[in-house]
Amino acid sequence: MNMTPKEIVAYLDQYVIGQREAKKTIALALRTRYRRMQLDPDLRDEVMPKNILMIGSTGVGKTELSRRLAKMMRVPFIKVEASKYTEVGFVGRDVESMIRDLMMTSMSIVKEEFSENAKESMYEFVLERIVEKLLPPLPSLATDTKKVQYEESKARMRQRVMGGEMDNHTIEIELPSARIEFNDTNMMPEMAKVQESFSALFANLNKGERKKEMKVSEAKEVLLVEAEQRLLDMEAVKKEALRRTEQGGIIFLDEIDKIAVSSRSDGRNDPSKEGVQRDLLPIVEGSSVNTKFGTINTDHILFIAAGAFHLSRPSDLIPELQGRFPLRVELEPLDEEALYKILRQTKNSLLHQYQALLAVEGLTLEFDDEAVRAIARIAHKANEKNEDIGARRLHTVLEKLLEDISFSADEQHGTTIVITAETVHKKLNIVIENDDLARYIL
Ligand SMILES: Nc1ncnc2c1ncn2[C@@H]1O[C@H](COP(=O)(O)OP(=O)(O)OP(=O)(O)O)[C@@H](O)[C@H]1O
Ligand SMILES: [Mg+2]
Repeated sequence: MNMTPKEIVAYLDQYVIGQREAKKTIALALRTRYRRMQLDPDLRDEVMPKNILMIGSTGVGKTELSRRLAKMMRVPFIKVEASKYTEVGFVGRDVESMIRDLMMTSMSIVKEEFSENAKESMYEFVLERIVEKLLPPLPSLATDTKKVQYEESKARMRQRVMGGEMDNHTIEIELPSARIEFNDTNMMPEMAKVQESFSALFANLNKGERKKEMKVSEAKEVLLVEAEQRLLDMEAVKKEALRRTEQGGIIFLDEIDKIAVSSRSDGRNDPSKEGVQRDLLPIVEGSSVNTKFGTINTDHILFIAAGAFHLSRPSDLIPELQGRFPLRVELEPLDEEALYKILRQTKNSLLHQYQALLAVEGLTLEFDDEAVRAIARIAHKANEKNEDIGARRLHTVLEKLLEDISFSADEQHGTTIVITAETVHKKLNIVIENDDLARYIL
């Protein structure tokens, strides 16, 4: 994870239009962490992450930014909705569970990396086991010549298994002891430990009883799981995962405005919302959280919070929490040009998605440029007339525009349909000119 801020922004530009400030702030925060890691340990511990608060109305790309960030980075990253947590003592998920979730993500990243490194020895293990099953065992009193012959046929069999020739043969495999994984991070770590020892105990009781006939192709996969269990140093995985969670972890706290208690609303204070905010304080500032993998210090975990703040303002958050998000960025509303670019220039844009979906039916869909402009214009107009729901408006507009084509696509195999500005106007003008219709349909 040592992309420069420019590279990070360039990556995000492929998917999110505009919002330069937000992209820059995020890129800088990420780079700062990289810089921090290069410092002497003494100084390193002093450099605290600067948490970010992203403010912007609905549908302008807050969640999209975080989604792309998550894909881009190989650091432990999770996105959670602030509104799904409840105060400690209430029924529901407590905020500490987000740290446990983060650690789980870290575990799977690290485990994958370790498996990747051990890939060859794991494959070797699997191969060896399958070949053993396919060949009759060598009698214990075999002569030396027999032994040599056996080794030779083993080598030949290896080749055949590797080449997939044996894939349809059936062999009997002892299943790896069924360890039930407890991934419920809502569980207290103490409880999780108890559950784990139980499952280990039961697994031991069943040992050797669980045999199953299967095809070699299937056995290759099943045995891989066992190879992983045997060959991976889980202690090392855990240690590395813990280190990465503490030093590189990022939590994206979406919908933070939903736990703000608006002073402008009817003045009814919602104690549980405030409670969640209070529970968040120590975690954001830095505290220790127990997980079944060990204690995690949250000092250096980066928090990026986001919210639309339609009904509340950042100042409606309790002051202590506001203070813990010193970097504020505002996301701009999307104008017509931005909507056009979202359709035209983003990777996997909605237009591509529709084209790909209809291509499944053998229908080629094309949009000429004027049509795309017209769609953007109509979406923008609808946003102005009704609530501004940002780029989400494009979904409703396109859905309406393409509903008929989409419905009868299967009957139009092999044809090409070109959407022109005229098509767009014909289909949508009636809707956009009638306020009531527009309100319901777009
Ligand atoms: N600036 C943008 N560039 C490209 N696509 C965008 C942009 N803004 C929004 N979108 C698209 O619009 C949809 C909604 O965006 P997103 O989920 O990011 O909204 P949001 O800002 O999180 O809104 P909310 O506050 O309602 O959660 C997504 O499909 C996203 O791809
Ligand atoms: Mg969102």
